[in-house]
Amino acid sequence: MEQVQQFIQSNKDRFLEELLELLRIPSISADPAYANDVRKTAEFVKEKLAAAGADKVQLFETAGYPVVYGEKIKDPSLPTVLVYGHYDVQPPDPLELWESGPFEPVIKKTEIHPEGAIFARGACDDKGQLYMHVKAFEAMMAHGEQPVNFKFMIEGEEEVGSDNLGIFCKEYKDMLACDVVLLSDTSIIAHDTPSICVGLRGLSYVEVEVVGPNKDLHSGVYGGAVANPVNVLCEMIASLKDENNRITIPGFYADVIDVSAGDRAKMNEAPFDLSKYKNGLGIEDVMGEKGYTTLERASIRPTLDVNGIWGGYIGEGAKTVLPSKANAKISMRLVPNQHPDTITQLFQDHFTSIAPPGVTVTVSPHHGGFPAVVPTDTPEYKAAAMAMKEAFGKDPIPERGGGSIPIVAMFEEVFGVKSVMLGFGLDSDDIHSPNEHYGLFNYYKGIETIPYFHKFYAELKKN
Ligand code: BES
Ligand code: MN
Ligand code: MN
Repeated sequence: MEQVQQFIQSNKDRFLEELLELLRIPSISADPAYANDVRKTAEFVKEKLAAAGADKVQLFETAGYPVVYGEKIKDPSLPTVLVYGHYDVQPPDPLELWESGPFEPVIKKTEIHPEGAIFARGACDDKGQLYMHVKAFEAMMAHGEQPVNFKFMIEGEEEVGSDNLGIFCKEYKDMLACDVVLLSDTSIIAHDTPSICVGLRGLSYVEVEVVGPNKDLHSGVYGGAVANPVNVLCEMIASLKDENNRITIPGFYADVIDVSAGDRAKMNEAPFDLSKYKNGLGIEDVMGEKGYTTLERASIRPTLDVNGIWGGYIGEGAKTVLPSKANAKISMRLVPNQHPDTITQLFQDHFTSIAPPGVTVTVSPHHGGFPAVVPTDTPEYKAAAMAMKEAFGKDPIPERGGGSIPIVAMFEEVFGVKSVMLGFGLDSDDIHSPNEHYGLFNYYKGIETIPYFHKFYAELKKN
């Protein structure tokens, strides 16, 4: 292990150069204009995985973007770790808010990252984090250190719902058989406060349309006499929360399992500075469901948020018009035991039922996903905690994250195994936002931690 760590220290510059190269390819899965680049990225990951020492490295075609697969099987009696990651990224817009090109990575120091951070789309989510696994694997291979069997499955459609990965996993269930799934696509609390993600929220995502008159109208001639779809949409959305910021959709909370008072108390012991949080976001105050702390609101409680809304005249100057229609994209984050399809149905029934006369409302579901929680009394969690302790010199805190990685629940369903969410980003790394970045500290710390995970996991599984 000493030699593996030594190898990492002496190859840091190259590990960084390679990541920068990976970040220069705009693998935006949501935008078909980037299809070639997404494929190029898959090729890049494939080549690097092979160069690092993996066998049977290949791209598996799907109905969408290919899955990169590779393995290094040493001995069937060893436990098998399936490493998951995604090489696709979110669209970078709004472009004008980036201080440097989203696909022209630069390294800059920040207050939180005094040793420097890489600014680029995908730096943290998830190219920087998936590449840590490729480099940790390379370092282990370079010194013949292989305590487990390795399988790698890196997909290119996570940011658009991973629909084809579900199909791929079912089809290649035998090839992918493993004892645990290991992924780095979440965050730690701070550089000096390691944590391990033990929960993710699910997702129900819908698009709504409110249609009124059969054409745009003069807002003076018709205003006040005909339902205005934009006004109506705003009122309908506003009615989805009450004065306590509870969601008003009947049955929305029915399946939510309340977290015990003891667990909530423990959760709130995690270091969290509300005024720093507010300062970082430039807000005077936070807002959320009554009776819950900010940490709880962003992890163990379900939410409803408008992600985008449009309709009517948005050009220069003023145009007096009563628009014919209005639209919005709405996401609901779900917590354990809530079913995305049930929630989508409840939303659809409720939202159409509150439509006033004079408009027609349609709700179209987008992708959804199941929430996930992982236990902490397993060899895989313990190995992750020991690895963090080794690398950070501090015991990690188990923490539930607010984001969604729908395939984590799917892995459990298809492979019957738990996942270890050994993420190294920070919540302040601006993933999905302009100026996304990933700390050099985090990148290298991740590469150093991962080999320990494999070592401790193998040891714990032996006993
Ligand atoms: N890596 C994120 C999820 C994440 C971020 C989990 C931070 C925990 C902490 C992932 O790439 C992502 O963005 N997922 C999407 C869901 C997907 C269905 C588009 C999300 O959470 O919005
Ligand atoms: Mn991600
Ligand atoms: Mn993401």
